[in-house]
Amino acid sequence: MKRALLASLRRSPAAPCLLSKRYVSAFGYTQAKALVYSRYGQPKDVLSLHSHSIAPAYNDEITVKFLASPINPADINQIEGVYPSKPPFTTALGTPEPCAVGGNEGVVEVVAVGAKVPDFKPGDRAIMRSVGFGTWRTHASAKSSHLLKIPDDKAITPIQAATISVNPCTAYRMLKDFTPLERGDWFIQNGANSGVGRSAIQFGRLWGLKSVNVIRDRDNADELKKELEALGADVVVTESELADRDRMQEVKRLAGKKGMKLGLNCVGGKATTDLLRQLGHGGHLVTYGGMSRQPITVPTSLFIFKDLHLHGFWVSVWSDKHPEEKQAMVEEIFGYITSGEFKDTPVQETVWTPTTKVDVLKEAVARSGQAFGGKKQVFIFKEE
Ligand SMILES: NC(=O)c1ccc[n+]([C@@H]2O[C@H](COP(=O)([O-])OP(=O)(O)OC[C@H]3O[C@@H](n4cnc5c(N)ncnc54)[C@H](OP(=O)(O)O)[C@@H]3O)[C@@H](O)[C@H]2O)c1
Repeated sequence: MKRALLASLRRSPAAPCLLSKRYVSAFGYTQAKALVYSRYGQPKDVLSLHSHSIAPAYNDEITVKFLASPINPADINQIEGVYPSKPPFTTALGTPEPCAVGGNEGVVEVVAVGAKVPDFKPGDRAIMRSVGFGTWRTHASAKSSHLLKIPDDKAITPIQAATISVNPCTAYRMLKDFTPLERGDWFIQNGANSGVGRSAIQFGRLWGLKSVNVIRDRDNADELKKELEALGADVVVTESELADRDRMQEVKRLAGKKGMKLGLNCVGGKATTDLLRQLGHGGHLVTYGGMSRQPITVPTSLFIFKDLHLHGFWVSVWSDKHPEEKQAMVEEIFGYITSGEFKDTPVQETVWTPTTKVDVLKEAVARSGQAFGGKKQVFIFKEE
């Protein structure tokens, strides 16, 4: 009976072989699913789950299976159509309308390579070299140029690999590239409990820097303060504490005569103006996000008399311009992770198997946009 069932499954090229770990049809086609969108809007309205087949890897093609992919704020903005990088809508996956695949960050395992792929072999793990590949999918056909191989170290978990290239790399660059910081120097940041913020706290600790960390007011602020202090935060204050005149002066005094040299901003609005007031003469503010969707207002006197410098940073552009430096940075950060010196951002996993319903996946995307959500949402791919 079982044999008859298998024989009937193998007769159809589209039918997946259920015994295969790779969910591969008898003709070598990998059965894949992807969360796609063909118009901009709220993810719950525009995302759909598309099934398709991937032909056996040929020439310079690499078939990969995804192991884990996070859901970042920029991914949501991209689907809403308000993010500057917009992957092109195409019919490459055989959708009735041109579409793009959601997600930008993730880790894959190579499952097959074409004859003209010298630098990857089955079993290698890699992260995306650039944004825009589309990572909310079970499998994909890629080229070497899309992938950055990661160390063959099983101590690096799929979640750690999947979340390394956006948040930790952004924090790393912002602390290194805008103003020289010496051991003992102070920086201040808002959104301190975000993925980027937690990374900045930890690099600060590793590199001998001191940090003031601003979080939004909330009922469990003390609990969150302790959590960030355990990562290495020197001071954690809420937005309303920082706005308080006395507390503001106390925080300012921490950096002594030198003053705070660097501010990292992912919020905007009043929270950013209060952060700017903390910077010392000649201080630098690096803006990398705008979670409150409010513009940045710089008091004119601060701008002129304190000689403040304002910058923007976008890790996507930096990564495209500095591929070799990126590889070295990623390896350095993996070193911190495997030596236990760098802790992961708290995550909530959503397991994605070949039979997971689209609603389950869309709920995970919706959770990532919730205020005070506390955890990064991550898809973990399993083959059942
Ligand atoms: N420019 C770049 O290259 C780059 C790279 C990475 C990330 N980013 C940006 O950096 C920001 C953080 O990203 P992430 O992945 O680290 O975030 P995340 O881990 O998902 O955390 C989101 C953070 O945003 C805060 N937040 C949410 N809504 C807010 C609001 N209305 N006002 C103030 N804060 C709010 C959250 O605080 P609560 O806990 O209080 O909700 C939390 O700290 C995003 O804007 C993202 O697009 C930019």
